[in-house]
Amino acid sequence: MSVTVRSFAKINLGLRIGALRPDGFHELRTVYQTIALHDVIRVQPTSGSRIEIRCADPRVPTDESNTCHRIVARALAVLKMRRGVVIEIEKHLPVKGGLGGASGNAVAALLALERALKKTMPASERLRIAAEVGSDLPLFLIGGTVIGSGRGEEVYPAMELPVIPCVIATPDIGVSTPRAFADWDAMYGVQNGTSDPPDAGDQPSSKLTRSTPSDRMLRFSHTVSAWLSGLSQNKILSGVPGSRGRGRAETPLLDLVRTGIENDFEQVVFPQYPALRQVKRVLERAGASYASLSGSGSAVYGLFSSRKLAAAAAAKLREQGVPAVVTTTLTRQQYWKKLLASSG
Ligand code: C5P
Repeated sequence: MSVTVRSFAKINLGLRIGALRPDGFHELRTVYQTIALHDVIRVQPTSGSRIEIRCADPRVPTDESNTCHRIVARALAVLKMRRGVVIEIEKHLPVKGGLGGASGNAVAALLALERALKKTMPASERLRIAAEVGSDLPLFLIGGTVIGSGRGEEVYPAMELPVIPCVIATPDIGVSTPRAFADWDAMYGVQNGTSDPPDAGDQPSSKLTRSTPSDRMLRFSHTVSAWLSGLSQNKILSGVPGSRGRGRAETPLLDLVRTGIENDFEQVVFPQYPALRQVKRVLERAGASYASLSGSGSAVYGLFSSRKLAAAAAAKLREQGVPAVVTTTLTRQQYWKKLLASSG
């Protein structure tokens, strides 16, 4: 039996890069948010023992390095099954775009495989093998608004938030995530957590006022937990998450981004690709309540108070030759419902 699932994308609502760890990864804190843009993954078990990846997009590797290949091989080992599997990837999301395309594809392949084989893995095993394949995979086992820590693979569901319109600009630039982390280290001389990358507002010369990576992580965590506790208090008081009587669907997410959270990758990626900074400016000028690079880019998103404003912003970008689409954030409930609804 073949199983088809949707593989959604994510954006990062703020991302703090912390210390370089002995394992070569960086400590980080972020809030992930799934969005409605997606690829389609079809999984078909076969006789034999070969895992075959099919994808019409030449930028997608079809060998053992493909994230779908890696997770399916691990899943078959956990399930103690020797089977062949054909995985078809219908690619719509950008490759190396900061939208978690390859990571989402792998999790979608895992979920489709379990259904195709009529087997269920314990949730903790799923999370373990997902984290082994990449830091950005586990978030796709939760969906909706997700708090990320550790190297990004420690994930916790945040409460459900109303859907908000967004524009995703996908300039034709591939940013390498390892390179962006290395550039961050080179910029701030980070070595195994001993040095002190500044906050964006810090003066380069004001050594005494600089904060350590762990201070910066902690501040981000405080901001996010203050936001979450505010949301839950509002829910208790009014029965509506984050409404505070304002009745605006956009409010809860925007309450978070208005706290001044930012994506540290902008500091290293924008100087290399000034066109991306320009895309962010266009979104802000077009009325985005918040605009930011997603992950290490190159996708740049804007959150809008209405679909109409979002459509106008996307049209403005396209006029300037930048591919841009209007979509929405996806709640956890929508994520699971739409992921599993076969798209034919
Ligand atoms: O986990 P993932 O495969 O996405 O990571 C790709 C590379 O990005 C890692 O090998 C590492 O160089 C870098 N990385 C990092 N810190 C993280 C996540 C990724 O340095 N938190």
